[in-house]
Amino acid sequence: MTSNNALQEFMGLCQSRAEAALDCRLPAENRMPERLHQAMRYSTLGGGKRLRPLLTYATGKALNIAPEILDGAATAVEMIHVYSLIHDDLPAMDDDALRRGKPTCHVAFDEATAILAGDALQALAFHVLAHDPSIAVPAENRIAMIECLATACGSHGMVGGQAIDLDSVGKILDLPALENMHIRKTGALIRASVNLAALAKNPIETVQADRLDHYAKCIGLSFQIKDDILDEESDTQTLGKTQGKDRDHNKPNYPALLGLAGAKQKAQELHEAALDSLSGFGDEADLLRELSRFIIDRRN
Ligand code: IPE
Ligand code: IPE
Ligand code: MG
Ligand code: MG
Ligand code: MG
Repeated sequence: MTSNNALQEFMGLCQSRAEAALDCRLPAENRMPERLHQAMRYSTLGGGKRLRPLLTYATGKALNIAPEILDGAATAVEMIHVYSLIHDDLPAMDDDALRRGKPTCHVAFDEATAILAGDALQALAFHVLAHDPSIAVPAENRIAMIECLATACGSHGMVGGQAIDLDSVGKILDLPALENMHIRKTGALIRASVNLAALAKNPIETVQADRLDHYAKCIGLSFQIKDDILDEESDTQTLGKTQGKDRDHNKPNYPALLGLAGAKQKAQELHEAALDSLSGFGDEADLLRELSRFIIDRRN
């Protein structure tokens, strides 16, 4: 097993790598329209755990793909994630004022600029996947990567999950309905973070791709369950976003349905299922194993 130190070192390296890769792909602040570009950079740079790029690079490690080839995919998935956060925080959605320890995009700029910054980040993500020279893979693989990300963030994935989330305010969802919402709103993009790396491998054995996909499904759900747990029991300072808002906004979530202990038990079971999915891999997948543990143990 990879030691915790090895995970810390890998996380530090990948976080710096993702930061630099995002920085050079985002438009400069002094390019027209300046305010829009400032907002895109404000929300994307200098914050966040970079979990999705970490998963892309760690999957690359498991498949022996060099990180240089994955910079485009890692940045594309993070751009979609940041766009989803900007829109999630808007007054029409969760109406949050704090994100990653600083004012949300619509507070720091204005609502229209925040909507447009999210829109532009989404377009930029697909531009990167379509054109970035770092993605040194055959054209069929590149198209499959574009399709993977589009499915993950569209109405059957993240945006669909967000629509269900908003429609569920004040309602009591049963467990299958809650799981369906979580798998879409958060799980889909986490799944894509892993699968984009698998799609950069040419050829990849179907069984390997399936195992990684199953791992990604498990951690995608455990990630949102942990997010719900933190919303209930952490604090605003540690989270860098307002604690307790699910309860305040009457959002159905795992602790509300299963209690805190039940939600933690479910996250642990998903972690174990994620590890089972990787049983066919050797120590080259240890970082993926450690990241699954990190997802359920994290404090923010
Ligand atoms: C928060 O995601 C939003 C959800 C999908 C639950 P993260 O916890 O990964 O946020 P950052 O990127 O670290 O800020
Ligand atoms: C947001 O879920 C998921 C997406 C942004 C797609 P939450 O609304 O629970 O995320 P936080 O808690 O605001 O980060
Ligand atoms: Mg939300
Ligand atoms: Mg929110
Ligand atoms: Mg939340």
